[in-house]
Formats: sequence, C-alpha cells, structure tokens
Amino acid sequence: MIDPSSINQIVDLAHIEDVVGEYVNLKRSGSRYKGNCPFHDEKTPSFVVTPGMGIYKCFGCQKGGNVIQFVMDIENLSFTESARFLAKKYGIDLIETNIGNSDASMEQQREKESLQALNDFALSFFQDQLIQAEEGRTMALPYFRERGYTQKSIDFWKVGYSPASWTAFYNHAKSKGYSDEVLLKAGLIKQRDKDGGFYDLFRNRVIFPLVAVNGKVIGFAGRVMSKVDKAPKYVNSPETLLYKKSDFLYALSQSKSEIRKNDKVYLMEGYTDVMTLQQAGIGNVAASSGTALTPGQIRIVKRFTSNVSVIYDGDIAGMKASLRGIDLLLEQDLNVRVIPLPEGQDPDSYCKELGSEGFQEYLKHNEQNFIVFKAELLLTEASNDPLRKSEVVSDILGSLSLINDKIKREILLQELQSICDIPIQTLYTELGKIDRKNRQKDSEKNISQELSLLKQAEATINEFSDPNTEVLSDVHQERALIRMIMLHGNKPVGTEELTITEFILQELDDDANASFQLMHEPYTLILEFVKLYYSNNQCAPEAVDFAKHSNPAISKFAAEIYSTEHTLSSAFIDNLISVKTEDDNYPKELIDIFLNLRRTKIEEMILEEQKKLVDPEENDSEVLQVLDYLIILRKQIADQIGAVTARL
Ligand code: UTP
Ligand code: MN
Repeated sequence: MIDPSSINQIVDLAHIEDVVGEYVNLKRSGSRYKGNCPFHDEKTPSFVVTPGMGIYKCFGCQKGGNVIQFVMDIENLSFTESARFLAKKYGIDLIETNIGNSDASMEQQREKESLQALNDFALSFFQDQLIQAEEGRTMALPYFRERGYTQKSIDFWKVGYSPASWTAFYNHAKSKGYSDEVLLKAGLIKQRDKDGGFYDLFRNRVIFPLVAVNGKVIGFAGRVMSKVDKAPKYVNSPETLLYKKSDFLYALSQSKSEIRKNDKVYLMEGYTDVMTLQQAGIGNVAASSGTALTPGQIRIVKRFTSNVSVIYDGDIAGMKASLRGIDLLLEQDLNVRVIPLPEGQDPDSYCKELGSEGFQEYLKHNEQNFIVFKAELLLTEASNDPLRKSEVVSDILGSLSLINDKIKREILLQELQSICDIPIQTLYTELGKIDRKNRQKDSEKNISQELSLLKQAEATINEFSDPNTEVLSDVHQERALIRMIMLHGNKPVGTEELTITEFILQELDDDANASFQLMHEPYTLILEFVKLYYSNNQCAPEAVDFAKHSNPAISKFAAEIYSTEHTLSSAFIDNLISVKTEDDNYPKELIDIFLNLRRTKIEEMILEEQKKLVDPEENDSEVLQVLDYLIILRKQIADQIGAVTARL
C-alpha cells in the first residue's frame, strides 16, 4: 500500500494542469483551463481543469477526478501504478508499506518486478543489437529498410535483433547477474534435455517487443529474415506472469490515444501490418497476432472505442476462419465493420501498393457492416444449394440476434432481406425463434427449486424492520440503489443504450470527485455480487439469482425486496422471464437517488472543510475557495432535486 502522506505529496507536487497539459491542449479561461476531452470525441471543449482544486472534469463524458485519477484514466494504470508513475516523474520518494498485502501477493509482486526488469534489459539488448552492433547493422537493419520502414518507425516500435549465436543474450544476461531461474521464467532462454545447458529462445531473428497497454514490455516476438530454413516464421515468448496471450493486443499501448481520438480501431493480424499503416499515417491500429479474437482482447479494446473495423487478409479461407471471433465482438455491443482486401494481399502489402492516400481512400470506400459482409460471403457460395442456404441464413440470424440495439437490428434485417431474397416476415419469424431459444437458455431453471426458495423467503420476511425510518441517511440511499439494481437492473436508462446496472456501476466507478462507497451490509456484498455477475454475463442477475444466493445476508434481502414490492409468488414466477410488474418511474427514481447520494457526500465534504477553518495549519483562503465551490454544488444539486421531486 502507498502511504497516504505520499499520496498527498503527489497531489501537491504534480500540478493537474501540467500533467493534463501533456495530453490535452489546454487554454486558460479565468481561474480554470479548458480543452477537448481526451476521453471522448468532441469539437467544442467541455473538459475543464481547475488548478485550485487539483481536479479535472469533463462535462461531456463525466469523467473526472484528481491528478492520480487522470493518469489512471489516460494511461490505463491501477491506482498504485499511477501513483508510482507520477512519483517517478516528479522525483517524489514514495513510501510504500506492506500493510494490506499478503505474503503470497508480495512474493508474486516481487517476481513480477524481477521479470519486468529482465524484459526491460532484454529490450535494450535487442535494440542495441540492431542499431549498434555490426552483425545487426549488416544483417537485420537492411531487412527493415528493404521492407520500407523508416528509422522513425524502427524507433517508435522499438524493434530489435537477436544475434545468430546460440547464447548471445544468455551470456550477456549472466554477465550482468541475471539468474538462470529468472531467465527461464521470462521464457528468454530454454534448457537442453541432453546436457542441461541453456540457449536463447530468439536467434537470428528481428524482434518485435510486445508492449502491454500500460507501456511495459511483457514479451517478444521474433521473425525469421529469410525463408531458407524450415523454422517457423515467428517465435513468440511463452506465457509468463507478465504475458497472457489471450489478454494481449499488439500496438494498443502505442496507438491508444489515436484510437480514442478517432473513436475507432483498425484491427488486423500482423505486427508488420500495424507498423506499415502507422507509418502511412493511420495510427489507430492494433493486431490480434494472427489468432482469433478473445474476450480478454475485446474487453481491452472496449476501453478505448466501440467501433472496430477488421481488415481481413485477402484469402477466403482466412476470412471464414475469423468469422466466429467476430460474434464475440457483437455480443459485447461493439459496432463491427469489415474491410476485405483483394486476394493475396495483407494490409501491409496493399498499403504499400496503393500508397498512404490511396489506401486510406480504399479503407473509406470498402468498409462494410459485418453482418452484411458475412451474408454476402457465405450466400454467394450457397446460392445453388437451398439446404446450405437455409443453414447460412440461420447462422447469420444467430449473429444478428447478438445485437441488442433494436434499430440497428431492424436496419440489418432489411439489408439481409435484400441480399438473400427471403421474405422479411420469414426472417422475423426465424429471428424470433432464435431470440426465444436464447432467452429460454438463460432462464432454464428448476421451478421446484424456486418454489422451495419461495417458502424460505417467506419465512425470513418478518425478520426485517422498517427500513424507511432513516429517511435520507446513507443507509437508506444505499438500500435504494441496490433495490434499483435488483428490481430494474436490466432495463434501459431512458433513451440511453445503458442498462440501469451499467449506469450505476459506471457512476460508482467514474465519479471520483464526489465519490461515495457503499458501506453497509448487505449492500456492499450485493454490489460485489452484481459486479462479478456483470463481468461474467454482461447483465444483472435475475431475482432468482439473488434469492438463491449462498450468502444468507443476500438472499434475505432479496426476500425482503421481492416480497414487499411485488406479490411474492407471482414475482418469482415472472422472474423466470423478467421483472416487469413495477411502475415505470424507475429512471426518475434513479436520478433522485444519485442526486441524494451526491448531496450527502457534499454535505460531508463541507463539514470536513469547515473543520479545517479552525485548524491553524491550514491555508484559510484555499479552504474558503473549496468551500465556495462546494456550496455552489450543493445549491445546484438541491435545485435539481427540487426539479425532480416536482416532476414525480
Ligand atoms: P502472417 O503470416 O500474416 O505474417 O501472420 P505477417 O504479419 O504478414 O508478417 P510479414 O508481413 O510476413 O512479416 C500474421 C500474424 O500471425 C502471427 C504473428 O503475430 C503475425 O504477425 N504468427 C504468424 C505467429 O505468431 N507465428 C507464425 O509462425 C506466423
Ligand atoms: Mn505481411
């Protein structure tokens, strides 16, 4: 854990306007600064930095917080990592204590740190071998040059070279004191069965470092420079404590700000594809390293954009193999588009053939919706085979059923109709069947089990006292919030594409400025359960999931909620499908809850500041400034609450 005094020091010394200023073009406006938000696409600035309070806030996307939060958001680091990042930059000696860290996690942390140090060391070795050493300069540098890569690209991607000798890196690392054990754990050397001797994993290859989103080198890929031997084209680091193949996308660290800025990523297969496009001025790129996409990779992409354009290599077999992975993208509510390339081309080769401008034009004009692309690809083949055609149509409707947005679905269905020449009514019916099947799968639960739960629930109801006695206390607010998730968790918030649960989880996460945390059981437990469930299923648990939860505190509360708000039995039976009995006032209620939560938080902050006024150590004028700001906020919130209450 980082000592609070160190955190204070960081917040004092790392001025918010300086830190933000490195990523955002800030213009002074009175006592504040304004700029275009780096977290969403905008043309008029709604991103405000207030140096006096050390905070930033975007009034467009609602991101905000102090300087550490900013680094967390922009660099995708954890709290501790951001604190270290800033401490290093501003020459602050961090005091870190072991409180709160278990021995096992300390051990793992140490091991990670030593692997990281070794990877950093290996990176400079490979870079030196390419740029300084005679062998690399004559054997490997020309390889990059012949492929058209500039020195700037070579530096930007930190590519390198591993010498032909079996032990060049091993000997160098040993001479600097690295142990066999850590070298093996990092996957940089291998051990011979025969005599137990060690040799380098990467030999006579050009090296592409694998850089995680947070900028750390977690592994390497080495490519042969000529096709003479039977060796595989690429050799990759094995999985280590640092490198999880399924959670890694090549180039994200270097391209994430371009991806954010363009609100779009071009996803392709290879390292060199990414390098070539970047050099041609298309910086919002990433590569899946030649494998099918994984949920882990998609989760990372989603942090930066929901628009994914996949550029396929120009061979039909490859395209068809990748179709499956794309369904995962659709399930995650990403907008998936596809750009096919001519037979035999990959993004690297075709970009070089057309030139930068030509290729950008090509991308613009050949982008297709994924479902339409899939339909055209598969239906052309099946055109003379009615049986195959109907299989293909069900396959495509299967993909379509993953799209939650009603309007998008409707448009795509119409397009599909025009491609496959099947009456729209038939398509609707088929899609309806698939939807029903999906729903049934979700709620195929044993009714008798539910009924016995009902009995259990009924028995526990009486144990609850009236929760309404503490009106407006934070217990009451926490209860209201959790109740909202439990009753309406999967319903939409107004016209937004978010569900109630997503909205609440985001608010709890994002609002670092006036943040509140649930403090009372069972609400803390329930929130943890919802978060976990959501991260696995992308939706809130159903009533039965709460009611039959193994933790009695959760199931008890579920019993209370579902029995007082609904008639008990029908609630459970309905809930096998969905909760739909309650009033439709929930969006207003939700706003009300959040306003109240914020008001409570601000009241607390005001009290804190007022206490400081009698403390001789404190700078009064600063405290007064903060107080002023808080009081304005309180007034605004009170007004908003008034308005909401009037509407209700
Ligand atoms: P490609 O064979 O398309 O290579 O594999 P490439 O990226 O176009 O590379 P160049 O242009 O020939 O140099 C696509 C990706 O698949 C992974 C690599 O990530 C590669 O970039 N791959 C390929 C491997 O991991 N191992 C292999 O043996 C081949
Ligand atoms: Mn290629």
